[in-house]
Parts: sequence; structure tokens; C-alpha cells
Amino acid sequence: MSSAVPQAKSQQTVTMIDNATGKKFEFPVMEGTVGPRVVDIRKFYAETGMFTYDPGFTSTAACESAVTYIDGDKGVLLHRGYSIKELAEKSDFLEVCYLLLHGELPNKPQKTEFVTTITRHTMVHEQILSFFSGFRRDSHPMAVMVGTVGALAAFYHDSLDIDDPKQRELAAHRMIAKVPTIAALAYKYSIGQPFMHPRNDLNFSENFLYMTFGIPSEPYKVNPVLARAMDRIFILHADHEQNASTSTVRLAGSSRANPFACISSGIASLWGRAHGGANEAVLDMLHQIGDKSRIPEFIARSKDKNDTFRLMGFGHRVYKNYDPRAEIMRKTCKEVLDELGIKDDPLLDIAVELEKIALQDPYFIEKKLYPNVDFYSGIILKAMGFPTSMFTVLFAVARTVGWVSQWKEMIEEPTQRIGRPRQLYTGTPERPFLPMDKRK
Ligand code: CMC
Repeated sequence: MSSAVPQAKSQQTVTMIDNATGKKFEFPVMEGTVGPRVVDIRKFYAETGMFTYDPGFTSTAACESAVTYIDGDKGVLLHRGYSIKELAEKSDFLEVCYLLLHGELPNKPQKTEFVTTITRHTMVHEQILSFFSGFRRDSHPMAVMVGTVGALAAFYHDSLDIDDPKQRELAAHRMIAKVPTIAALAYKYSIGQPFMHPRNDLNFSENFLYMTFGIPSEPYKVNPVLARAMDRIFILHADHEQNASTSTVRLAGSSRANPFACISSGIASLWGRAHGGANEAVLDMLHQIGDKSRIPEFIARSKDKNDTFRLMGFGHRVYKNYDPRAEIMRKTCKEVLDELGIKDDPLLDIAVELEKIALQDPYFIEKKLYPNVDFYSGIILKAMGFPTSMFTVLFAVARTVGWVSQWKEMIEEPTQRIGRPRQLYTGTPERPFLPMDKRK
């Protein structure tokens, strides 16, 4: 099935009057299936001689997409029309991958074929293993991810032709399957344990836990509660519309770069603390707070304009309501801690208290700052045994399918052009070259 985007058109227009010249301009309005209408300003510069200014893209739709829909005011997240809550409860990660990539949930034979395909692509070229020894053992695993995923282009030459739909699909399958393997390899390398080859008798999340925590000297017993929690964490992070890393992937791909390079650029963007790096930052922050009695001090710091400290795991560019993923994450957190018999986790206690205090604080209420997906994920991952440096890597494992689906959608869009924003230049206008003896 094709995932091509239907073109959004409407008969409506908006009129703009340039008060400097009195000239009137009319622009078409586009309408999607749900969500705000969009003014089509593609001819804005040609007609008005002006650019629009929107740093941070707070009001700019950079593409049409049929993959994910978010209503930030209502706290709604839909993948191909299905709510994240239902997907997290009733589906599994590979099924969600299929849905994101192809637009529909798979029927039984489609699912069997997809699961088999992904499972059979989980091994990496043996030479990639020796590639790892080039990294220092104390490298941040995200640095290893950026380098190694980008290097896949040097190994898989038969999936680099982006104009061939079969090669695009092969690249998509390879990345969904191999990024978890690379993530587990990065972890094993950092702790000096032998690499574990993937096991085809395990499902996606079980296999990931096995490659991460298994050792060759004894059998690894998968804990079904933890495997299900892992799977749910992957589902919750699978895609999130046009966020920073996805937009990075689209922009990189718009120049027709190869898919492995594009996904590597997405991983780089995800690494930042304002984005995927927040789950690691939440745990650092909870450690820094250290005791419930210090919460008011940190809340006060987060409100102080002269302090760069922000409450990590709070706030979102789009959600001005509870992040629907955070609610599911909170529930999963409880299940994991119960399963592991962790009754009194001091960090969880601080997190619960922090959430309570922040949600009652007029500053957070007025600015609509709610806990986001990263607030609880760190506590779950820590309890499962992942070091904090792996948290953002796990986000990257899950988000790979979102990046790949959005990249594919963009490449399959017939009107796709290279992304090339303009600027408001505030530098020096043209001036004559200054000889050395005249410079200050
Ligand atoms: N703590 C304290 N104040 C905050 C916070 C926070 N976490 N987040 C936003 N604010 C304030 C901010 O200072 C600003 O105040 P004012 O209007 O007085 O200048 C106002 O709320 C609006 O914030 P903003 O920075 O303009 O909002 P943004 O849309 O540019 O940033 C954000 C969104 C997620 C980067 C930001 O909320 C933040 O830094 N949160 C902490 C990091 C975090 O948890 N990131 C994970 C996001 S969810 C997962 C993902 O996307 O990867």
C-alpha cells in the first residue's frame, strides 16, 4: 500500500494588506482532515517581495503528512488515526511500525511477513562489530549511534538508491531492525562485555533486552512484564509528528541524501536535552534534588528568569495539556516497580512529589506546563537496569520507525523540493575590503 500524502486543498483564501504600500494580496488556505487550517504562502515572496519570519517554526507547517496527528490543547496523539492509548494497550511495537510505514494495521499474513522480515534483518554486517573498537570505551552511546548508524551507508550499498521503492523499503526495514542491535552493541562495548548476536526466536523487545542484558555464559530468561514495558516504551516513542529530529531527517533527506545518513542526523538532533536528551536529564535532576525537602528550591530556580535551570520532563512545544504518553508511562512505571519489588524508590518519591507540587503551582498552571513523556520513562528504564546514558539511545531505537516513515513519505511526495529556509539578515551591508594596516 502506498503511504503517499493526499493533497490538502480548499476554496478558501486569506487577504493580506501591506500597510506600507497599501497593496492587497490573496493567499490560498489549505485544509487537512483535522487540525488548524494552513495558509499556503509558497508564492508569498514572489508576490509580495517579503519573507515570513518564524524562528522555531511555531506557526509554520513545513510539509503535508498523513502519519501522526497531535492536538496539543486536548492532549490527543493519533498514529494513522489510532489513539496512542489504544495502540499502547492493544498493539505491539512491530505492528505500530507497520502502521506508521504503510498507513494501515497489518492483517495476519501481512504481520507475519513483516515480523519475519524485520527479525531476519537484525544482524549487522560482521565488519561493523570491529568498527566499534575505534570508539573509546567511555564514549557516550549516542555518539556511537550517530557514527555507526551513519556508517551503515558504507555497508549496505544495495539500499541507497532513494528513487527505487524496493531499495527505500529495504533501507527502512534494515534501520528498524539494525538500530536496536547497534544500540545493544554500544552498551555492551561500553561495559566491556561480549556482543550478543540477535535471537530470532524472541520478539522485537525481548530480543532487545536479551542483546542488552544477556551474557554468553548463562541462559537469559526474559521477564514478560519487563518485555511488555519495553515494548510499550517503544510504542510511546515511535513517532511524534514534525518535532526537531524528524524535521532534521526531512531536511537532510530533502537534499536527496541517503536514508542512513538522514536517520543519523535525526539521532544527532534527538540527543539534545530539550528533546530526547530530556529523559537522561530528568534522572540527573532527580539525583540533584536528592531529597523531597529540596523540591521547593528547584521549583523556585526553574521559575527564575536569571537561572538557566528548567524542570526537566515538564513542558512541551505542542502539548498544553497532559502529554497522553506520560499518563501511560506513569502506569507502566508502577507495573515495572511492582514486578521488580521496588517499593520505596527515593527517586520515584521525589518525582511523584515534584509532579504534585508543580501541577499546583500557578507558574506551571498559567504556562500550561505538564509532565511530558520523559518524566517517568527514566525511572522505568533505571529500574530495568539501563544506565542513564542509554536512555536517549532507547528513544532513538523507537523513533527510528517514525523518522523512516516520515522520510519515505517525503521522498514519495511528487512535489518534494529541497528544504531551504530564508533569513532576516541583520549583518553589515556590503563594504569595501579593509587592508591590514587599516584594521583596529
Ligand atoms: N521549567 C520551567 N519553565 C519552563 C519549562 C520548564 N520545563 N518549560 C517551559 N518553561 C517556561 C519558559 O521559561 C517560558 O516562559 P516565558 O513565557 O516566561 O518566557 C514558557 O514556559 C514557554 O516555554 P518555551 O521555552 O517558550 O517553550 P518551547 O515550546 O520553546 O519549549 C520545551 C518546549 C520542551 C523545550 C521546554 O518546555 C523545555 O525545555 N522543557 C524541559 C525539557 C524537556 O522536558 N524536554 C522534553 C520534551 S518531550 C520529549 C521530546 O520532545 O523529545
